[in-house]
Amino acid sequence: MKFLLIGNGAREHALGEAIVRSPQKPELVVFADKINPGLQKIATVYEKVDSLSDLVKLRELVEREKPELAVVGPEAPIAAGAADLLEELGVGCVAPKKSSARLESSKGFTRKLLQDYGIPGNPDFAVFVPGSETEKAMRDFMKSLNGEFVVKADGLKSGKGVKVVGDHLSGIDDGLHFAMSCLNEDGRVVVEEKLVGEEFSAMFLTDGKTLVALPVSQDHKRAFEDDKGPNTGGMGSYSDEKNSLPFLQPEDLTAAREITEQVLVALQKETGETFRGVMYGGFIVTKNGVRLIEYNARFGDPEALNVFPILKTDFVAVCQKVVAGELVSLPLEFEKMATVVKYAVPEGYPNNPVAGSPIKILGLPAGCQIFYAAVDVDSEGQVLTGTSRAIAVVGIAESLTAAEQISEAGMQKIEGRLFHRRDIGTPSLVEKRISHLKNLRGE
Ligand code: AMP
Ligand code: GLY
Repeated sequence: MKFLLIGNGAREHALGEAIVRSPQKPELVVFADKINPGLQKIATVYEKVDSLSDLVKLRELVEREKPELAVVGPEAPIAAGAADLLEELGVGCVAPKKSSARLESSKGFTRKLLQDYGIPGNPDFAVFVPGSETEKAMRDFMKSLNGEFVVKADGLKSGKGVKVVGDHLSGIDDGLHFAMSCLNEDGRVVVEEKLVGEEFSAMFLTDGKTLVALPVSQDHKRAFEDDKGPNTGGMGSYSDEKNSLPFLQPEDLTAAREITEQVLVALQKETGETFRGVMYGGFIVTKNGVRLIEYNARFGDPEALNVFPILKTDFVAVCQKVVAGELVSLPLEFEKMATVVKYAVPEGYPNNPVAGSPIKILGLPAGCQIFYAAVDVDSEGQVLTGTSRAIAVVGIAESLTAAEQISEAGMQKIEGRLFHRRDIGTPSLVEKRISHLKNLRGE
């Protein structure tokens, strides 16, 4: 059996490892726009193209290799219609079709979906379109939020389309300026209440009927320790030995699931399509309860790296159940282990990354796994830094403290002009998250 994997980051390297360790022994066919040395090693076919959204090239590969199943990693090919094409070609696909992927690709669509179907979790928000009164209406709305707002471009922007007052915007004038530029670019912009609390990533696999929860984790977007510096694709994430987070109560997880269940039903009504794939909610626990930040229609990166190294169930069987609509019959099992993911990134990342610098891996400690992200490989097979995150190091152990120490020990074995965030998953960072929420809740 052939299994098609679209994408070539660390998330896809972890997906690829989960596919090839299946007892069904599938052949891995990869559709990539960059060489990933880890994925290339385990793939039977590694098709390198210029763009993952090139559906003509994707069609050619599928017609030639005839895979039975497919999973799509990144958002761009999903939003471009990779799943629509795969369905047309008779390939079972774990990723939603283009229309359903608006859950991620349009923030305004998702906010309105929750509003129209009376689903809890939205902050105060408004969607604006160009018009003679728009600038004034936006200013009034920002004022009504006491100047505590977030502006979100209404398209796929790889994390660069969201600006938060206090972090990236100095106030209403600055916010209006950014909102007007979003309107010009996308024809729509979302302005919403700034939420304060602790964020968590809750991913669910679904066949359109059943939702299966994956281990919950917390990502770290800022480049430097103590959540300072520019935003990145995510510097690392942690998940505890209960496959949850130490600051979450059971009712927080229940709230995330209930919102997602209702969104799934609403989305399928709205699109008339079955959603097969991942609903990944970025949630925040506030003093007033759980709120939705956004949905993604794919596995998170780094969050997928907290999931696949401890997945006990055959992932290929899981995908078969998703495609067949039989997820209800499959217990999905994870090791009760804590995981700490840290990304080694080039010096200067994200603004001025040092590319082309050699990376050496000297041998890893027990309980440590690594996944390649965006590296280059020279003609002698030497791995080099690229311009984005280089290598994800995952520590796996019976406690968060031990998993964090293993990920640090793993980092010591990676030589090169790289840096990482030492604070992710440490006891002092986790303690800070817990006391932040306690303070907010007035406990
Ligand atoms: P991204 O996930 O790249 O779209 O970035 C979104 C990030 O912006 C989230 O992880 C939050 O940290 C922040 N964010 C988005 N919406 C809000 C909101 N309503 N209140 C506070 N922070 C937000
Ligand atoms: N963890 C952020 C993302 O996957 O978008």
